[in-house]
Amino acid sequence: MTESMDTEQAEPTSGSAFLEERIRTLLQQMTLEEKIGQMAQVPSGGGHLPHHLREAIQRGQVGSVINEVDVATVNELQRTAVEESRLGIPLLVGRDVIHGFATVFPIPLGQAASWNPRLVELGARIAAHEAASRGVNWTFAPMIDISRDPRWGRIAESLGEDPFLTGSLGSAMVRGFQGEDLSAPGSIAACAKHFAGYGASESGKDYNTTNIPEGELRNVYLPPFQAAVDAGVASIMTSFSDLNGVPATANTLILQQILRDEWGFDGLVVSDWDSIHQLAVHGFTAGDRDSAFEAATAGVDMEMASQTYAHHLASLVHDGRMTIEHIDTMVSNILRTKFRLGLFDTPYTDPSLLPDIAAPEHLAAARHAAVESLVLLKNDVRVLPLSAESLCAVAIIGPLADDQQEQLGTWIFDGDARHSVTALQAIRDLVGDRVTVHHARGIDTTRSHDRGGFDEAVRAAEQSDVVVMFLGEEAILSGEAHCRADIGLPGNQEALIDALAATGKPLVLVLMTGRPLALERVVPKVHAVVCAWHPGSLGGPAIADVLFGVESPSGKLPVTFPRVTGQIPIYYSHKHGGKPGTPETFVHIDDIQARAPQLSVGNTSFHFDVHYSPLYPFGHGLSYTTFEYDSVRVDPPELAVSGTITVSAEVTNTGDRDGTEVAQLYVRDLVGNVTRPVKELKGFQRVFLAAYERRTVSFTLTPEDLSFFGRANTRIVEPGRFHVWIGGSSDTQTRAEFDLTD
Ligand code: BGC
Repeated sequence: MTESMDTEQAEPTSGSAFLEERIRTLLQQMTLEEKIGQMAQVPSGGGHLPHHLREAIQRGQVGSVINEVDVATVNELQRTAVEESRLGIPLLVGRDVIHGFATVFPIPLGQAASWNPRLVELGARIAAHEAASRGVNWTFAPMIDISRDPRWGRIAESLGEDPFLTGSLGSAMVRGFQGEDLSAPGSIAACAKHFAGYGASESGKDYNTTNIPEGELRNVYLPPFQAAVDAGVASIMTSFSDLNGVPATANTLILQQILRDEWGFDGLVVSDWDSIHQLAVHGFTAGDRDSAFEAATAGVDMEMASQTYAHHLASLVHDGRMTIEHIDTMVSNILRTKFRLGLFDTPYTDPSLLPDIAAPEHLAAARHAAVESLVLLKNDVRVLPLSAESLCAVAIIGPLADDQQEQLGTWIFDGDARHSVTALQAIRDLVGDRVTVHHARGIDTTRSHDRGGFDEAVRAAEQSDVVVMFLGEEAILSGEAHCRADIGLPGNQEALIDALAATGKPLVLVLMTGRPLALERVVPKVHAVVCAWHPGSLGGPAIADVLFGVESPSGKLPVTFPRVTGQIPIYYSHKHGGKPGTPETFVHIDDIQARAPQLSVGNTSFHFDVHYSPLYPFGHGLSYTTFEYDSVRVDPPELAVSGTITVSAEVTNTGDRDGTEVAQLYVRDLVGNVTRPVKELKGFQRVFLAAYERRTVSFTLTPEDLSFFGRANTRIVEPGRFHVWIGGSSDTQTRAEFDLTD
């Protein structure tokens, strides 16, 4: 080896060693104040650069700006940072781009119903391109909080109740936002949030306390975050919530031990909005100075909105409470992200390098995503699909049938409703003059208590062959801080359904909603139910295509639908318990005899006033054809600790229409060091089957897939017996079994 080659090795010009060297060089030039400046994320002026913000950037007191989407202003912000601050460090420009930018995709919970990582990745890619063309280089998504409480409004932003599904789809979103090269035009940094446990807010009330035993945290709430880290997510946002007495924003167990030490995450951790300041409101600290200390030492690198770091970190260092080495670690995490984004080389945005906002191909992708997000929950007497050839007239009823804004859903700061096509419009376009469309709102909003529009709606129904009702919840009823204690249909919607049912016409309910709703009373009154979530810009044409059979529904629930609110939390992956409810032991309140004696023997786990099963289980979703599974088998018959096993089944399209089925793989570990769930999703595949086609689906399992955190909160692989199912929903009964051997 020559000397010059030696020199080249010592001074790399690319790769992580080079990046770390650039960080070190920069750190050496920075004053303490400039380092703390990098940790500040401040709100923008919204379309202009206010004087105070310009001065703060010039003085090196700002590391990131949030909520600026005017590209000229972003470029001016960057120019100020790069050309007018002493060290010329560019800014992170953050924005919530949750399910699309101007082109709005279905809410994340709806996208999750597609069980299609490629579709979810494409949606994030398009959102990244649109946001990046406005100068945004950092989004606060994916939101991968496991959500098992539909009262919680933020379930809409989530990918549902299951760690495996959320991990798969959350990683797909990370790949979509960040692309293969984070520094390429159109790539933006993703942020997995909210770390961690936010979805377990007590009683589904936002910002509320969470108590999650460490084993549950590690087995259920953390796996999606680890998957996001493995997928290379650039940043993580802490949760507002209190986690077992230590607010997540100051929780060393999750931020230091798990995230940094166990997972090796070297990206940026940002607080949630004001959540460092709120540590004192929680009663965890006595004031901002202690809050800054607790959050910084736990590992929060950047402070969103509040200014406890700006005001107190320097004096904490001067007083010897915090070390400069710790400050340097925090700043390095921020600078590393800026280097990875290529901001030092390309700080400015040139929109001409990116596709137009709301380009036709973006809208087409949003339409396709909406089609795959629709879940056919019920289809008695095959009322669907409707036929434009055989119908004379259809009644389109409800406040959500023709509302360009409401169909977009929650968290759509930049969503442009002018691109929305409503279901009413799309149905009219689809049927043309073959079918008469009678439209009546029926009720003003989903929350209205009036009946003023009922008569017109009933008249429309009477003049029609079939009634399609667009009911559910407006966008404002879900999302951050928008929680409900009773998740039935709000307002007078049920009375409207009763009035329409009295006409005797076939009723189709299209649910537009940000959460599962408790519809035990409602479902028997209608013939078909399509859950459309809040389907986004092109939700209307997607719904029309599915209703009229242009497309066959293929979505599956990413979350359980309870019968009544009081069943919550109800989720498929529950523990078995010692006295589980059974059909033989279930007693309904109406069947209890007068003065029946109260015994402790022979009882099982259920409520008297509602069946213990959900209304619709996780993974449920019908199609216009039917699928059957048989011959579940494993090969080899035992799984060795160092081996793999293939689980296969035959799936048959038993109908005369083509269709796509989501084949789902579940396992149960029969005996565990800690009790194990009755079923856990371990794989899924979307399978297209032509009419009457029969095909083998196969999944591979490794001992790692069957590992879990046991009593000592360490990951273990335990030999023993497993049940394994392949089927079309979590209540599948087609199973085999195998042993995991030493
Ligand atoms: C939310 C975050 C969001 C942030 C910035 C907070 O209120 O909890 O999810 O990213 O605001 O908009």
